[in-house]
Amino acid sequence: MSNSIRRIAISTGGGDAPGLNAVIRAVVIAAANRGWECYGIREGFNGILFPERFAEGGLMRLTRERVRGIGHLGGTILGTTNKGNPLHFPIKMPDGTMREVDRTDEILEFFARKELDALVSIGGDGSLTIANVLHQKGLKVVGVPKTIDNDLDKTATTFGFDTAVAFATECVDRLHSTAESHQRVMVVEMMGRYAGWIALNSGISGSAHAILIPEIPFDLDKVAAKIRQRDQEGRMYSLVVVAEGANPTHGHRAVIEQAGVGHAERLGGIGEWVAKSLQELTGKESRVVVLGHLLRGGSPTSFDRLAALRFGAAAVRALDEGHSGIMVALAFPNVNYVPLEEVAGRMKAVPLDCDILQTGRDLGICFGDS
Ligand code: F6P
Repeated sequence: MSNSIRRIAISTGGGDAPGLNAVIRAVVIAAANRGWECYGIREGFNGILFPERFAEGGLMRLTRERVRGIGHLGGTILGTTNKGNPLHFPIKMPDGTMREVDRTDEILEFFARKELDALVSIGGDGSLTIANVLHQKGLKVVGVPKTIDNDLDKTATTFGFDTAVAFATECVDRLHSTAESHQRVMVVEMMGRYAGWIALNSGISGSAHAILIPEIPFDLDKVAAKIRQRDQEGRMYSLVVVAEGANPTHGHRAVIEQAGVGHAERLGGIGEWVAKSLQELTGKESRVVVLGHLLRGGSPTSFDRLAALRFGAAAVRALDEGHSGIMVALAFPNVNYVPLEEVAGRMKAVPLDCDILQTGRDLGICFGDS
């Protein structure tokens, strides 16, 4: 094979997702089988930017022994962060104002100093955008698509998504009996940022009666009409799934914290508003459940675990084959490579003509638009 790789580093960035440890395990074992050494960078790139914060230093030596038995564990043994993006790193100016600076050169210097030949960057849009810049600056980089949100383009799915959907579906399933017993409207708010994949897939699988997603601005009168119609049919309860990024036709997305220097906007609160408004509109008692970070926890499903292991092994194969600047991607039935520049900065929203959405409509689910 055409390369001179001997030592590689792994970074896990952004929100954690079930399957991260399985990717790490696969990368380490596949690398060890080629005689390469593996190192994990702590907390995204913090291990490089702030090595003094970590008792054992910012790099963790990853051996076969170190990754034994971690494949089924949630989270990441390396730690992660969705703050302090090295491309837009926040610093305080002498006058107290905040500014963003590009610290990616420090990462390149670190790789040169530690004689690290390549990086496997496991992350979502933010991390893969950083990975693309590092590749353009000359580092050998392969990306691995992670996010519970499934909002990355050019891969059939990201790892972490299936686990989130499985748990969300179980939650919707469990709410049917309590909603029916009390003849209530139960609203379930789910993560997913600006894409409705988790809400859509779990809402349909869990037989929700209305699903509100960012891709379809909703009119609550339409949802209230659906609830009244169910009541008239003797179905005295309703389940409404709402994605955190969903927004009413005449209103705004619900935001907990505005974007600031060094951090993105935090979404949340739409479920509370939907439940309160539906109670006013229908006269029915309504309750909200916010799944929040529960969707990021737990052991990866076998689908996510296998995807993660395949991605990790493929990332090492790609480096061994001399590739850089690519992301390993699921293109059923295989894993293929796609250029990072085709992924960075793009978001995969739910296409309005996709069959999953059409399935929901055929099943009579209300999406707040008709
Ligand atoms: O991208 C993953 C995700 O869980 C989103 O669904 C959610 O909007 C966001 O991260 C939450 O971030 P934090 O962990 O900062 O609250």
